[in-house]
Parts: sequence; structure tokens; C-alpha cells
Amino acid sequence: MGNDISPIIMGCDHAAYPLKEKIKAYLMQNGIQVQDAGTHDETSVDYPDFGVCVASSVSQGKYARGILLCGTGIGMAMVANRFPHVRAALCNDLYSAIQSRRHNNANILVLGGRVLGDALAGEIVRVWLETPFEGGRHQLRLDKFDGFGESRNL
Ligand code: RB5
Repeated sequence: MGNDISPIIMGCDHAAYPLKEKIKAYLMQNGIQVQDAGTHDETSVDYPDFGVCVASSVSQGKYARGILLCGTGIGMAMVANRFPHVRAALCNDLYSAIQSRRHNNANILVLGGRVLGDALAGEIVRVWLETPFEGGRHQLRLDKFDGFGESRNL
């Protein structure tokens, strides 16, 4: 699974720490290296601190893919999509995860640790990693916004 996209950078807040640990173990069991940007326990933290770390790394091309988790996934998605070339998709269902790859070439998957059960979250990660981008008309659409914010200092 996903040899061309390893390593993956991950980040979460306290609300999604237990799910982050499970997803990290799942990835490593499948031969994918993980760069864990934290958080590392359930002590209350601010999700933007971890979202910025992961999203800026993907934005700068240091990692091809990232996974971010918070309670709902909403805050992390808001943070991540402020960075140029980041296409973060909040996917708390399988169809969105598949379409985020096929049509949006999403490079950051965002999950809600207080929304998802472990088994569904694992399936969402699996299909997100396995589904290719379709390109074509979808690439033309991405080209219309992909460079937004590029001149901003990261
Ligand atoms: C933390 O309580 C919670 O607000 C956060 O995990 C996330 O859901 C924000 O969008």
C-alpha cells in the first residue's frame, strides 16, 4: 500500500490523539513510514499548532501526503487549506475519501477523532491511500486555485 507516498506526516490535537495512534500503527503495519508531528498525549493543546506544522510541510513539498485529526476535523481542515498547494479534505465517510482523491487530488486527509469509529477510520485511510487522481478536467479545475496564497510568507 502506498510505497510512493511514504513517509506520511501526521498531526492531531488531544481530542484525536487515540485515533492518531491507531492510524499510525495501521500505516506502519502496512509498510508506510510516519513522521509524527504530535501531539503525543491527551493533554489539552491548540489544534492550529499541529495543523500548521503538517500543512506547511506538505505545502513546501517536504511530504507528499499528510493526515490531520482533531475532534471533528473541521478546525484542522480550516487551518490546512490556508496553505498554498495544500488540498485538505475532511472525510468522515468513505465516498468523500474516494472522491477527494479521484477529483480533488487531496494531499491531506482530515479525520474527526470524536466522529469516527476506529474501523471506519481505518477503511477511510486505506481507500484514501489507494485511490488515484483521475486528472483531466479535474486537473484544470485544480489549476484555477492551486497557487492561491503563494506569495504569503509561510
Ligand atoms: C477540541 O476541543 C476541539 O475543538 C477540536 O478538536 C476540533 O474539533 C476543532 O475543530
